[in-house]
Formats: sequence, C-alpha cells, structure tokens
Amino acid sequence: MKTICLIPGDGIGQEVIPAAAEVLQTLELGLTFVEAEAGFACFENHGSALPDESLDMARKSDAVLFGATSSPSTIVAGYRSPILTLRREFDLYANLRPVFSLPGPFSRPGIDLLIVRENTEGLYSGREHQEGDTAIAERVITRQGSERIVRTACEQAMLRAKQRGKPPMLTIVHKANVLKLTDGLFRECALKVAAEFPEIQVNESLVDSAAMKLVKSPESLDVLVTTNLFGDILSDEASALVGGLGVAPSANVGKGTPVFEPVHGSAPDIAGKGIANPVGALFSASMMLETLEFLQEAARVRKAVLDTLAGGLYTVDMGGKNTTEEFTKAVKERLQ
Ligand code: NAI
Ligand code: MG
Repeated sequence: MKTICLIPGDGIGQEVIPAAAEVLQTLELGLTFVEAEAGFACFENHGSALPDESLDMARKSDAVLFGATSSPSTIVAGYRSPILTLRREFDLYANLRPVFSLPGPFSRPGIDLLIVRENTEGLYSGREHQEGDTAIAERVITRQGSERIVRTACEQAMLRAKQRGKPPMLTIVHKANVLKLTDGLFRECALKVAAEFPEIQVNESLVDSAAMKLVKSPESLDVLVTTNLFGDILSDEASALVGGLGVAPSANVGKGTPVFEPVHGSAPDIAGKGIANPVGALFSASMMLETLEFLQEAARVRKAVLDTLAGGLYTVDMGGKNTTEEFTKAVKERLQ
C-alpha cells in the first residue's frame, strides 16, 4: 500500500492537483492520499511556508505530488520557497523534465527529449549578499554534485535508448568558455562520468547555443544535462515547443521521498477561473506511478491524456476552450 502526499500549494496548484488526484483514484490502486499545506497562503496563516507537519507527512510518504506555490520576488522575512526546501531536505538532486510532442496544433512534431537539471546547487544555492550598491550571488558547483547529476542523466539516456530502441545520446550543456572554474568543473566531471558509458554518444553545447538548437532542431536532441539555472530556463523554453508551460511535467529525485510537480508556477493571472491546464500535473502523476513501479497504470494515464488531446479537448492556454473539469472528466472516462 503506497501513500501519496498531495501538496496543492497556491493558485492553480489548488486546481490541477485535485484533478490529478481524481484521475489517480479512478485507477483503484489502493493508494492512500494525505494532504499537506504549503505555500504563501500557508505562510500567511501559520508563519511557515512549509510547516514541520507538512514536511513530516512528505517524509513518511512514498511520493509527493506538488502543485505550485507563489514565491514573492522580494525578501519576505521568514519565507522560504517550499519546493526549494523539499529539494534540499530530501536531497532531490535530479530534476527530470521530459518534453515530448503532443497530438494537436499547439505542438511541433518529432520531439522527444529529456532535460536533466541539477537541483540543489549552482546559482540557486541561496548564497547572495549585498555590498552597498553591489549585489552578489555565488554559483556553487561541486565535483560530487556534478558527477551524480551526470550519472543520473547517463542512466536515463541508457534507459530511454532501451525503451525506444535507438542509440543513447547525451548533450552536456554549460558555459565553460566564460565560467571557466564553475562550469569548467561541471564539464570536466560530466565528460569523466559520461566516459563510463561507452555506448552513449556524447556532445557538448554552450548554453546559448543549446537555447538556439532547442528552437531550431529539437528533434535532434535526446538527453540534455545541465546546471540548475540553465536547466530551469531551458525547460520552460522547451515546453513552448509542445504546448507551453501547462503541459510540462517533472520529477525531483535523489535520496528522500521523490517529488513530482508540473513545471509551471501558481499562475495568479488565471487562478480560480477553472481554466488551468491539468496536463502537466497529469503527466507528473504518470511519472510518479512509473517511479512507484505501477508501470502499466503510468502508461494508461499518459495514453488517456494523449487520446483526450487527440480527441480535440484542450484548455485555453493551448488555444482550446475546455475547462480543467471538462478535460479531467474526459481523461477519467477513458480510464474507467
Ligand atoms: P507561471 O508558470 O505561474 O505562469 C506563467 C504563464 O503561464 C502565466 O500566463 C500562466 O497563466 C500560464 N500558465 C502556467 N501554468 C498554466 C496552466 N497549467 N494552465 C494554463 N496556463 C498556465 O509562472 P510565473 O507567472 O512566472 O510565476 C507565478 C508564481 O508562481 C510566482 O509567484 C512564482 O514564484 C511561482 N512559481 C512557482 C513554482 C513552483 O512552485 N514550483 C515554479 C514557477 C513559478
Ligand atoms: Mg521554472
């Protein structure tokens, strides 16, 4: 019996996570759901964006399905982004962000790639300070952090090659020509670890050029591995090729309870209107089922979403007219 901790969070997290939970419930897998509070509203109510009880619930569960939280762009005393806390607390060092073509006019064809983003260090290490009118952020890159993320990327490349019956490919994305120490170390570690996987065809790309290739020829890319900030930006960019932020799923994996979340944020501009796209959350739920080794059910959820899109149902962000509820109902019907 597996326990899933639902953390809807703020904004449209409160709409897409219940939708994903409803779909999971139709599968009758005997999953137990517990719900934990987190986010900005939670911070305003309880003085903590991720109370200890929520962290405990997440720790004791087999997986977390996380929506999104609203993080202010200014310093708010005592506020810390819950997703960053979860990644740090559970040492979820790998963020897996698959991007694949979808059936519909909103998506380009022929895309099937995976961005493997380092999740615990880089420019998001939380080491910022100010000296008068100069503000400084430290970009922390470690040998251990780099080696383990590249190893994960190589394992993913091997797995995908096996599933798809094609040769594994890895693109190491960095900016070592400018960031000679930080990305120099990342690149050195990446090439060393990748050499342990002789079957993998390894390329490297400077991040600006990788951003261009993502738009120009995404069909030629398989697995990309990169540091935290670059991965954050490139994955949002890549999502636009296949329908936008609303369809992009992700998995945070590493040592502790894995956390699955749509890539998008709390979307305050559309929150509460019932029009949020649940596809990213549903694909994230499918990734969660795969990790929990419900392989058939993971594939069924994915297929039900793809078939629903192919049937012409989609939300406003993708140029459709369906609501969150209509889309979710259609997916559930395909699974019953
Ligand atoms: P966002 O992803 O919330 O929204 C960007 C744009 O995409 C908006 O126009 C929004 O309406 C649209 N969009 C996003 N997801 C959608 C969906 N499922 N269906 C339909 N349209 C969708 O990013 P933004 O605006 O940069 O940030 C808003 C808030 O979210 C901020 O407070 C930010 O800190 C937070 N955020 C939280 C994340 C997390 O909790 N993991 C990740 C990214 C942002
Ligand atoms: Mg992001």
